[in-house]
This record gives sequence, structure tokens and C-alpha cells, in this order.
Amino acid sequence: MRLVIAGCGGFIGSHLLDDLFRREGIDVDGWDPETDKISDHLFNPHLNLHRALVDSKETWKEFEDAVRHADAVINLAAICNPSQYNTKPLAVIKANFFDVYPVVEICARHHKWLIHFSTSEVYGRTLASYLPDNRYDNPDLFELDEATTPLIMGPIQNQRWSYACAKQLIERFIFACHYETGMPFTIVRPLNFFGPKMDFIPGRDGDGVPRVLACFMTALMNREPMLLVDGGNRMRTVVSIHDAIRAIWAMLERPDRAMNQVFNIGNRDNEVTIRELAELMRDTYAEITGNAAFLQHPIESVTAEEFYGPGYEDCDRRMPNLDRARTLLDWAPRISLRETLVETMQFYHDHYATETPARSEVTA
Ligand code: UGA
Repeated sequence: MRLVIAGCGGFIGSHLLDDLFRREGIDVDGWDPETDKISDHLFNPHLNLHRALVDSKETWKEFEDAVRHADAVINLAAICNPSQYNTKPLAVIKANFFDVYPVVEICARHHKWLIHFSTSEVYGRTLASYLPDNRYDNPDLFELDEATTPLIMGPIQNQRWSYACAKQLIERFIFACHYETGMPFTIVRPLNFFGPKMDFIPGRDGDGVPRVLACFMTALMNREPMLLVDGGNRMRTVVSIHDAIRAIWAMLERPDRAMNQVFNIGNRDNEVTIRELAELMRDTYAEITGNAAFLQHPIESVTAEEFYGPGYEDCDRRMPNLDRARTLLDWAPRISLRETLVETMQFYHDHYATETPARSEVTA
């Protein structure tokens, strides 16, 4: 099998390459300027690595040459960090729409199967969140179904939605290419994939505000308070990266089942509020370090505006309907939130904690 992967050097790409190269007979043409997370594969003869984004005339030409010989094209390239949606909306719209547009055009021109990684954020906020009492007693008003749930976003000045809107438009473009040219496609909507190598630790291997897991991990390792945005009452379902990679392989193995479908990939059993996530992470870190002081690690509230700046609006709840992935791919997630956190936090601890000077001691 020959695969073209745009954005192969990120969190998902690194785990996908680990999985693919454990198998026989897989060759990858990969594009990514960042290679730290895939250092184990840099000398693998089955990886033809292009250290670049697919975003210029020269790269489009090289990319098109590779696509001609591919069985499938996987697009993982994106800016998917909420702290940038309202602060760098132009870069976000470019990376998630304009840079993907030629990739889709090339796939359509060569009639190649495009597996595009979208986001659960295309659903926006749930219908339930707009009701006066904001109750979740009717699943029809909050469960996310690929075929029937409306995609609802806030006003233009709430630039949080720059990302979701760009992602939604590229989904619509992909669907239109399928409709008008017959290009086969699969759209994947990830719901909070967690695992080792996710994001970065500010001041160590990146700058700015990463996603919540790395924010809380940084706070624990630096002995600083974990910050809950607007009280931490939003909800997320967390799926282990290993379950997610199994879903991608199920798609590659059964193109007849996966083609021309949109799939939620998440884990309904791993739902938490962000406050619960913070509490679970400090308990887990106390276990990992053997230091009971972390059980009392400070958790503080901040407003969204203080944390992200103006124009941030949150998705309230993400409960995926997974019937389609179960029936078509014969896939279901298996890994608990606890196992996922233990694995991921142990990874961060091993890679970063020993180098981190304690800024102040936490007392039990
Ligand atoms: C992000 C991306 O926007 C999605 O594209 C992506 O699919 C998704 O992550 C994912 O990982 O699958 P989101 O879940 O909002 O969406 O990103 P996080 O930064 O992980 O935030 C989760 C929640 O934690 C939000 O309510 C946020 O306000 C809160 N948060 C974040 C805190 O309370 N404290 C922090 O330090 C950081």
C-alpha cells in the first residue's frame, strides 16, 4: 500500500507512522516541516519525507507526482490550537482552508481517495446550549450525529469559530468534489484524541498556549495552579490515540466500508467536565510521582477573556454518536480515560519533568 500523508510529523501523524511501519508492505510519501515527533522514522527506507508544508507551487507539483502513485491520501495538516483561533484567525483560515484546497483539487483531478481529518468543532455548540435552562435531558439536542446534527456557530466577532468555519467549508468542498467529480473521500471528525506527544510544553518545545492536557501538565510540572476557563464546566469526551489509530487502520483495510463517509471518532464512556479532568490529572500525577502533595495541587478559575483574549466562545459538550464507525468499520474504542491519562502523563513526566525546576513547593 502506498500512502501520501500531509502533516505526517504531528501528534496523530507520529502515532500513525508507528502503526503503519509495524506492518509489512507500506510505503509513505510524507510532508511536514516538523520532524521531532517522528525522529524514529527518519531513516526508514519506507518513508519518503518532504520537510515542507504543501502550500506553494513547488510543493504542489511534488505532491501531485506522489498522489498519482498513491492508494490513498491522508490530510492531517492543520492549525488546531484554540488559543490561535481568536488571536491568529488569518493563519488559521489559511492553514485549514486555503492550504487544503489545492490538496483536495489534486485528489479530485487524479480521482484519488482523500481521507481528511476535520474536527468535532464543525458541530459548533449544541442546540441544548442555546436553551434558557441549558439542560441536557434530550439527546436529540446535544448528541452529535454525522448525518443529522446541524452545525451551529456563533457570530463573526467571536473568532473562536474561524477554525470550525474553515474546517466546515473544506468539508463542503470535499463533498462537492465527490458529488461533481466522483472523487472518493472519507472525513474523520476527531473528538479530543489524547496520548503521548500531544502538543508541546510551553518554554520547552513550543511557545504559547497548548490544548488543555498540555496546559494542565505544564501547571503540574511547574508547580503552578491549573487554570479552569470559566469555571471548567464544559464537557469533553476523550479518546486514546491508540483507539483512534485503530479506527484509521480499519478505514485503510476496508476502503469499501470507509469511502464516501463521515465518521465521528471518539469515546462516549470517557466524558468529563474540564474541572473533573483537572482533578483526575492531579490524582494521576500524585500516583506517577509518588508525591501526595499533588492531590492538593491548586486549581483556580480564570475568565475566557483573561485566558484566551477577546473573541473566544466554547463548545459546550461533545457527545458523539458512534453507530456509523461501529457498523461500517466494526470499530469501538476500548481504552479508559484513566489508562489514557496514566500513559500520557507518564510520557510527559519522563520527557520533561526531571528538567523542570520547581518554582515553589506545593504543600499537602
Ligand atoms: C480542540 C480543537 O479545537 C479541536 O479541533 C480538536 O478536535 C480538539 O481540541 C481535540 O483535541 O480533539 P478543545 O477541546 O476546545 O478543542 O481544546 P482544549 O484546548 O483542549 O480545551 C478544552 C477545554 O478546556 C475548553 O473548555 C477550554 O476552555 C478548557 N481549558 C483549556 C481550561 O479550562 N484550562 C486550560 O488551561 C486550557
